[in-house]
Amino acid sequence: MDLRSKYLGLELENPFVPSSTPLSRSLASARQLEDAGAGALVMHSLFQEEIEANRAVDRDNIGAGDIFGGTRALATREEYLEQFKQLRAALGIPVIPSLNGSSRGDWVAFAAELEAAGAPALELNVYYIAADITEPADAVEQRVLDIFRAVAERVSVPIGVKLSPYFSSVGKLVTTLEASGAAGVSLFNRFYQPNIDLETLSITDSLELSSPADALLAMRWIAILHGRVALSLAATGGIHFAEDALKMLVCGADVTHLGSTLLANGPNQLSRIRNSTVKWLAGKGYESLSQIRGSLSQINCADPGAFARGHYLRMLSDYKVR
Ligand SMILES: Cc1cc2nc3c(=O)[nH]c(=O)nc-3n(C[C@H](O)[C@H](O)[C@H](O)COP(=O)(O)O)c2cc1C
Repeated sequence: MDLRSKYLGLELENPFVPSSTPLSRSLASARQLEDAGAGALVMHSLFQEEIEANRAVDRDNIGAGDIFGGTRALATREEYLEQFKQLRAALGIPVIPSLNGSSRGDWVAFAAELEAAGAPALELNVYYIAADITEPADAVEQRVLDIFRAVAERVSVPIGVKLSPYFSSVGKLVTTLEASGAAGVSLFNRFYQPNIDLETLSITDSLELSSPADALLAMRWIAILHGRVALSLAATGGIHFAEDALKMLVCGADVTHLGSTLLANGPNQLSRIRNSTVKWLAGKGYESLSQIRGSLSQINCADPGAFARGHYLRMLSDYKVR
């Protein structure tokens, strides 16, 4: 089965790409992901805060064990660069570093160091909570564009931008990013919500892994964008099984990013997803993934309203009260 997929200008063997998670912190798990058949690997992020803190580093005391150590302290740019170089040297698949920030600043210059170290592409995650209630919507969008342009000015490798779903017009932001030179978007960032512990009346942070229901939001937007933009579309969020990945692909995703499912089930879940995808495609008589990619996107499906208000009206009016 021909699963070849193009992503951020890279030719991948398949569209199953481990998303940015701690699995890339360990050389062993990164190798397992490659052995399981990953098409590429997105690294865990280096955060703006980490670059800006730029903790002084005692190079003599950093060995490979420390660089891929399990404990999570603030990473330095040197450590991240070293991790990238080691992953790149150890793996045959493209390794895509990830920068993660929320405002413009000198930190973006680090992108050039990653490019110089051989990064074939970069992921830029703009994770920003618009908590200033006086900040207008266009300023929030401009922030994303400004950060992207600041990074893009410093590198020539393709950049994929990981976005949140919380924009008035996701489509317009994506087309503006494309016009500004973005090579792709990853839809969507998952915002982790703080919770309350009623016993102690305090705010708690707990990271819940996703479930397949979380995939539907990105699926709709991938379907709306496919065929209307030329940049790469990566689906991220809630892809746990081959069915979830296939749905994203028929809606038009170029690649599917896998996070929670690999953390919950181990790297080998990727090969299960891949094998089941191949089985499904072969069972339907297809020879290549490209035959189904985007076949149910909004511009290709018989019922474009299914991705817009029509679906909403139908669902509400068809609901049967028990
Ligand atoms: C433990 C954990 C760590 C993550 N670290 C990062 C990160 O460093 N940078 C980033 O852009 N996304 C990060 N993510 C988000 C994932 O890359 C992914 O976009 C998100 O989990 C949704 O996909 P999923 O439903 O497949 O998990 C992390 C997710 C988890 C669960």
